[in-house]
Amino acid sequence: MNTSTIVILDFGSQYTQLIARRIREFNVFSVVLPCTSKLDEILSYRPKGIILSGGPCSVYDADAPPADPKVLEQGVPVLGICYGLQFITHHLGGKVRSAEKREYGHAEVSVVDAGTELFAELPAELQVWMSHGDEALELPTGFHLTAKTANAVAGIADAQRGIWAVQFHPEVQHTKQGSVLLKNFVFGICKAEADWTPEHFIQATVERVREQVGDGHAICALSGGVDSSVAAVLVHRAIGDRLTCVFVDNGVLRKNEFEKVQKNLRENLGLNLVAVDARERFLKKLQGVTDPEQKRKIIGNEFIAVFDDEAHRITQQTGGVDWLVQGTLYPDVIESSSVNGPSQTIKSHHNVGGLPETMKLKLIEPLRDLFKDEVRRIGRDLQMPEDILERQPFPGPGLAVRILGEVTADRVALLQEADDIVVSEIKAAGLYRRIWQSFAVLLPVKSVGVMGDQRTYAYTCAVRAVHSEDGMTADWVPLPYEVLKTISSRIVNEIHGINRVVYDVTSKPPGTIEWE
Ligand code: XMP
Repeated sequence: MNTSTIVILDFGSQYTQLIARRIREFNVFSVVLPCTSKLDEILSYRPKGIILSGGPCSVYDADAPPADPKVLEQGVPVLGICYGLQFITHHLGGKVRSAEKREYGHAEVSVVDAGTELFAELPAELQVWMSHGDEALELPTGFHLTAKTANAVAGIADAQRGIWAVQFHPEVQHTKQGSVLLKNFVFGICKAEADWTPEHFIQATVERVREQVGDGHAICALSGGVDSSVAAVLVHRAIGDRLTCVFVDNGVLRKNEFEKVQKNLRENLGLNLVAVDARERFLKKLQGVTDPEQKRKIIGNEFIAVFDDEAHRITQQTGGVDWLVQGTLYPDVIESSSVNGPSQTIKSHHNVGGLPETMKLKLIEPLRDLFKDEVRRIGRDLQMPEDILERQPFPGPGLAVRILGEVTADRVALLQEADDIVVSEIKAAGLYRRIWQSFAVLLPVKSVGVMGDQRTYAYTCAVRAVHSEDGMTADWVPLPYEVLKTISSRIVNEIHGINRVVYDVTSKPPGTIEWE
């Protein structure tokens, strides 16, 4: 695929992924590489431009990330952002110092050189977002000042050398017209083409997978969620029924989910799907277990065992399986190769796709270049149904981490009903897509109630709804009173076994989204 590419070198800023997303919004492909990447690797992308991200260090710190300053001499246009500006200044002979007045938050910038291509079409005064402790004191030879704040250097350039830099963050929304600046760099300076489109991606991916797999066979574990489904549909486009998808009922799915997912994937999308009813196997293993981590481990291990059994069966039927399809997304790829190391951000429980190495399967990860919203765009282009594409995240261990205490078939049935009421009322109120996750939790707490003339003694159900960008942090949603009222009265009236409903008003942190 000969796509225009912008390489972003990650110096550890919390905004690095945002730079990549902004550029992709212009339909230009961008990759994030650790700033320590070898020059050969960086150049292997044949970048139209290179962006040096912000970062938490000072160029003088002993642990400042050791990036290769030769990236500045490759004849490829460079844009430094925040730490990127200081990196450029420091390595090309200028001086950086700890700022007398640190700048965090909103700031005003005056454009000093309106002729600089980076500021084309921008006003003389910019509202920007700053976040830095160091500043450029002396510019390297050949550079001139392009913008400043009241206190400090805000932009520099050496157009001859093809290097531009700004002290503020054009990628964050608080920088008004930051997108214009990035566009000026990507299109005006780097002359990139807007050729990163869903159609292009689909076509290129289908061709690549077809070539990779040849006449081999692939398998894929489906959860019914967006990532694994889109990955499967793409690979199915490439190799048809030589892809077998496996969907396992682990006994802790939501109400009617086993049937719904089969209908969607097999009937609507034409996938070659093996649906395995393994409810008994899982529930038996979960008997008497109350510890959350142990539940997770049991479900993870049992899943691997079931999938392994299926893979052997499929191997016998097809004469051999060589490939495993996984719906890995770009943020996971970036995080596992980041300068900060993988452990800082990824939680082990998110790597549920982990399958035994003994299977010796080669991986196909058709989505490893995509962010979640891009996966949805691809899914739409593949004509996949909205209820797959817009589905809220659902954890691998399913309802087991929403039933506190022991997981039994009866308790699963109760929670399935309560969860179904929560989700359908949230949908009816038109809120489902605006909320990251909304669900019910079954508490092993019994309390006294009264229904008609009868005294009841039954379980409590907690309702949880959270807004989140990525599941790492979350805020509880102030659901409208009417919605809460309907959910509560429906649960108590329609479900025998639950007589009390409470609403969870805990953010993450300090809470987590799931209760276990
Ligand atoms: P927590 O509860 O850690 O959840 O705040 C953050 C996000 O991750 C999901 N989650 C999981 N997903 N396997 C998964 O695939 C798991 O074991 C798991 N635990 C939590 C959770 O639903 C939320 O979106």
